[in-house]
Amino acid sequence: MEDARRRYLDLIRSDGVEFSATLAGAFAAVPREIFVPDGFHRRDGRRVVPADRDYLATVYSNDVLVTKMDGDVPVSSSSQPSLMAAMIEGLAVRPGMRVLEIGAGTGYNAALLATLGAQVTTVDVQPDVASRARSALARAGLPGVRVETADGYTGGPPERYDRIIVTVGVAGVSPLWLDRLDPGGRIVVPVEHAGTHPVLDVRPGLMSARVVCAAGFMSASGPLTARHPRSHPPAAVALDGLTETSPARWRPSLDARAYRDLWYAAGAWHPRSSHASIAGRESSYLAILDDTGEAGSVVLADGAILASGESAERYTAVGIALADRWWALGRPPMTAWRVGLALGGDPAAPIWAPSSWTLDPITPGG
Ligand SMILES: C[S@@+](CC[C@H](N)C(=O)[O-])C[C@H]1O[C@@H](n2cnc3c(N)ncnc32)[C@H](O)[C@@H]1O
Repeated sequence: MEDARRRYLDLIRSDGVEFSATLAGAFAAVPREIFVPDGFHRRDGRRVVPADRDYLATVYSNDVLVTKMDGDVPVSSSSQPSLMAAMIEGLAVRPGMRVLEIGAGTGYNAALLATLGAQVTTVDVQPDVASRARSALARAGLPGVRVETADGYTGGPPERYDRIIVTVGVAGVSPLWLDRLDPGGRIVVPVEHAGTHPVLDVRPGLMSARVVCAAGFMSASGPLTARHPRSHPPAAVALDGLTETSPARWRPSLDARAYRDLWYAAGAWHPRSSHASIAGRESSYLAILDDTGEAGSVVLADGAILASGESAERYTAVGIALADRWWALGRPPMTAWRVGLALGGDPAAPIWAPSSWTLDPITPGG
């Protein structure tokens, strides 16, 4: 078991995330299997149960464990550990801090925060999920973590917090979270941008944010995912009929991190940027979708453009312009962006959503 946990830490680090020895200690101390006692679905859809030979190896992999499905759609999970590590590092938690988590899920992230010495309250909109998280936290010897059933928009129990961490994809920040935060507090939250959920570090007061890292989360239910004036089009399920309309422009191709940086910039510059999959290919792609949402252009990691639909020529030109602009600016990383937030969404339950993006002046890409 000790070997499995050591390998686990190596796997989390191999994703390029740097995290403190204290957080490594928490990952080594909290048994993840306690939080998935009934098994889970792997990313590839395979169901894994405790009796399976590879159960513990899969639990201690650097991957998401899906614990609840609604038909084909995952509605609860234990997130990818390297993403949890990046978010907890971004939160800068110290012992004794009061932390509100939105999206209790399995309770594992709350357990890590509690092991770091935080006083944790976690809320989940699904009563059965909240109840299972409560039981798991008790079995893990962390009965002090408070688990409540609530829509995260409400901010849960009306108390004061030093930090808020959101572990479900949202379109913006609830004003009720701001009311709960003490001065100097911060919110780490994955906010929809071009079909993915980059994690933002929001500093209330300024109502601006920095980008922490790339992420893809399941979307929250309720007003937290309302559309707003700068919403991007929903992700296209799979684009059909694509042909190459512009050849590769970069050798070697961008690595996964640089491709995410390009994707972020495209989302800041073009309102039709989104996420697409391509029939027969496994990866996710930056797409610029036309008004139908089912055609447009795709920018590949080597800068080649694929396009489809009646406006293929126009969307090819947009893809080229976005790629060239990002390259000419020195390939800025997503962490170089400052995001301005404005109140929008459902007028009855507004959210602070991204509305403007500015780039730090000198930010050469990696
Ligand atoms: C990715 S999981 C959270 C992972 C969790 N932190 C863990 O460590 O296992 C997302 C959770 O957010 C919950 N959720 C979705 N919409 C929500 C909302 N509006 N308010 C609160 N929780 C919500 C889902 O029920 C789901 O359990």
